[in-house]
Amino acid sequence: MNTFTDLRHAEHIQTVKPLPAWAYLSPELLELEYERVILPSWQFVCHQNELPAAGDYLTLNLWRDSVIVMRGSDGRLRAFQNACRHRGARLLDGQGNCARQITCPYHAWSYELEGQLARVPAERSFQTLDKLSLGLREFDIEIFLGLVFVRIAGGGPSLASVMGELGHELAPYGIEDMVPASAVQPAEHWNCNWKVALDNYLDNYHVPYGHPGLHRLMDNELACSINTHGVSWSRSSLRERPSPNWSERLYQRLAPRAFADMPEAIRSSWLFCFMPVNIGFDVYPDGISIFQVLPSGPAITEVRVPLYLRRDASRETRAVRYVATRINDQINLEDRALCERVQSGLSGHRYAAGPLSDFEMPVKDMHDRLRAACPVLEIEHRPAEGSLRRINDEMLAGR
Ligand code: FES
Ligand SMILES: [Fe+2]
Repeated sequence: MNTFTDLRHAEHIQTVKPLPAWAYLSPELLELEYERVILPSWQFVCHQNELPAAGDYLTLNLWRDSVIVMRGSDGRLRAFQNACRHRGARLLDGQGNCARQITCPYHAWSYELEGQLARVPAERSFQTLDKLSLGLREFDIEIFLGLVFVRIAGGGPSLASVMGELGHELAPYGIEDMVPASAVQPAEHWNCNWKVALDNYLDNYHVPYGHPGLHRLMDNELACSINTHGVSWSRSSLRERPSPNWSERLYQRLAPRAFADMPEAIRSSWLFCFMPVNIGFDVYPDGISIFQVLPSGPAITEVRVPLYLRRDASRETRAVRYVATRINDQINLEDRALCERVQSGLSGHRYAAGPLSDFEMPVKDMHDRLRAACPVLEIEHRPAEGSLRRINDEMLAGR
């Protein structure tokens, strides 16, 4: 099966065309993308330190699916489908602790923290009941530098192999030991297709003009490194010339002092990374912010932005964090506004997309991967409503 994890060569990517405008508007395409690219990809759930004790759990809701990550009595983290094996009721919401068992709110079937079906009320009322075969359905789970990921449709490469050499780049930050920021970062809903938010995250070309503050603060590397799985990263370094804006100037002055225990290259830079199909990592000297783009409909996207920080916060570090938050809130507002503008432009009658710059290389790579998984995206004009899946299946069969 062709999926977005297929390998591509750099020379090939140079010539890749952008996706057609209809790809950002079609409800039918979203169904295909969900099945063929979202479900087979690694999805971020939480940091391992958010679930320290047996019975601690956290749920992740995707468009049609919900996942529980639970710490078992044996100390292991597992991922379960968040649906009761009796009649499908969603078992858990949000975050919490199940002291001993997971009990369904409908008819009270209970499951062990490790997923086995433990107790069924009025068990004799069932003519057949094979409790051993009715445990919670498990999904793939993998922890990378303390970050917990799940994969609903299994079978692809491991998370560690997808991340590859980026693991070495991230190792000095001590991400495993980080804890959630005390202020909860609520998910946002942007009025755009999930791929508009994705393209925007992957595009370094817009930084100098779209983010004037970030551009004053940092010398942004517009080119990036990219591996065969489409994992990309680029580093932005603090400018020496003081910014005219006070919060940016304060960050430039304080950051190199506050993180004196970190290597020079880290304390004066931010690292921007991306893992297909929908997860960005903004890495600061003392923290990491995840940027996870989840479709909620063809033109509405949930953006999760959880933030994890080092535990040891001096007064100086707290000041730097305050300033960095102000700067990043502004960048986020700018990105959201740009994405919503793009969505409205793409919706125009017979709008056709233009070429992509080499500073949009990861966008090209991602579009190519999406086309490999959903070849119907090779068609320039929008296929007739209701025909998309059939055309896609025929194109896949003809490969
Ligand atoms: S749906 Fe869960 S016990 Fe019936
Ligand atoms: Fe941006």
